[in-house]
Amino acid sequence: MRFVRCLPALLLMAAGGALAAQPELDLLRQAGRVMDVGKAAEMPPLSPGDPAWGSAPATLLRLYPQRSTAPNFEEAGPATLKVQALAGKGHLALRLAWADKGEDQIDPKRTDRFADAVAVQFPARPGRLLPYIGMGEPNNPVSLWFWRAGTVPELAEARGFGTLTALPGAGPEVDAVHGAGEWTVVLRAPLAANAGSPLPVAFAVWDGATQGRDGRKWLSSWQVLRLPAMRDDRARLRAFAAESFTVGNAMRGEKPAAERGCSACHRLPEGPAFDTGPTLLNAGGIHWPGYLRRSILQASSFVVPGRSYGANGVSLMPDQEWRGTEVEDLVAYLTSLK
Ligand code: HEC
Repeated sequence: MRFVRCLPALLLMAAGGALAAQPELDLLRQAGRVMDVGKAAEMPPLSPGDPAWGSAPATLLRLYPQRSTAPNFEEAGPATLKVQALAGKGHLALRLAWADKGEDQIDPKRTDRFADAVAVQFPARPGRLLPYIGMGEPNNPVSLWFWRAGTVPELAEARGFGTLTALPGAGPEVDAVHGAGEWTVVLRAPLAANAGSPLPVAFAVWDGATQGRDGRKWLSSWQVLRLPAMRDDRARLRAFAAESFTVGNAMRGEKPAAERGCSACHRLPEGPAFDTGPTLLNAGGIHWPGYLRRSILQASSFVVPGRSYGANGVSLMPDQEWRGTEVEDLVAYLTSLK
């Protein structure tokens, strides 16, 4: 634990004097976690074909099938989500594009048919620790923009997998186009009063054709949006930079992963296929180092929902005594698994 408490100091030292004014922002950029938001002079456009999107900054995010908890999702999916963001007049608009061969709309007469869908997730209390990527935690909820093809988007809140609750009030506006095997969807909503910059955001995509619903989805990791015309909140930057960073060595981390019994419960590249705990094969793709560190040091601070994973808020994962750089090396090793 002593090692972890030193992290902020180590971070700043690692960032060095060269990165002058905002070493935390530079660390987040180096970790590939920052998405810049373009500034719209007026209300950002809703139409996916609006020329303003031509010059909006774009980020390609890798999407991973949800395999942390049942139903484990084996389908190969859209590999990437192209995200563009514009803000203006107190509104944020996100233009999201992903591959999807066919268009699947909601059909109220067919309960066996599911719609293509996309969700944008924000921490409901930004500025604290990033919530668990899969729909938040009991004590750290997320708010969502949730759109299913053929319906009006909803504003929702969740405190963990399976707890999605619609919030009262108008949801985001939407304009969606399907063509040439791709969805392009613009969602626009007023920025929440507590938004601030940087603002964490994450994405999930469902494909109706492969029975996509609930946990049968593809998801991105958290990113942070830098909102124009807002000064970065230094305390947030510091907190997120500490979560994005590890001083560990990934190659050295393979040793404790083998010696500390991790693969007796988790899938790892070299290990047997045991599934007592969630697979870690994509751990670095969907989780930040901060979450991985917390999972190792305080497994019960958040228990991934799953029948075999724990009971009454106590994880099945054992606490261990750690030596030297073992934990950070493990974190670096898991972060390298994508
Ligand atoms: C006895 C079985 C067991 C062992 C041994 C074990 N874990 Fe776990 N681990 C679990 C279970 C069950 C969960 C899910 C519940 C939770 O969130 O704590 C979990 C969760 C995790 C998570 C969070 C995963 C996610 O998808 O959110 C990480 C990271 C993790 N373990 C890493 C490790 C590492 C590294 C080791 C070896 C040092 C290890 N575990 C050893 C059972 C185990």
